Amino acid sequence: MSKYIYISSDHGGFKLKQNIFTFLTNKKYHVYDLGTDSNTSVDYPDFSDLLVRKMKTNSNFIGILFCGTGIGMSIAANRHEHIRAALCTDVNMASLSRKHNNSNVIVIGGRTTSPHLAKKMIQTFLNTDFENGRHLLRINKLRKKI
Ligand code: RB5
Repeated sequence: MSKYIYISSDHGGFKLKQNIFTFLTNKKYHVYDLGTDSNTSVDYPDFSDLLVRKMKTNSNFIGILFCGTGIGMSIAANRHEHIRAALCTDVNMASLSRKHNNSNVIVIGGRTTSPHLAKKMIQTFLNTDFENGRHLLRINKLRKKI
């Protein structure tokens, strides 16, 4: 999968984002940190929007979003058609979100996830391919307006 990554968080995900940024940079990924850059309280939709906007014009990037639980960030990101954001809480979810959902953004709770688990999930996400076939049909149906 892509070696190019956008990463973003609110204050609830800030500490874990910093940890993951260093981890991925050491592994030679090209990681672009879109903030936030401190523990000061900010609004998660603003930092989701920064990443969503970047991914609109750079479709070869994958995204990693963090907030306290991951819930707010996943709601915000999934409002946009080009985003399939997966809130993951274990390695199997990270794997299946790629295989079945062709997810292009992994979302992780900074207050609910250990750095060790976050690293395992991200590595799995980055190294798992979409299975295509029947899953593509389902993903195409996501575009449908009701
Ligand atoms: C911020 O306090 C917290 O609400 C936010 O990080 C996130 O967990 C929202 O879903």
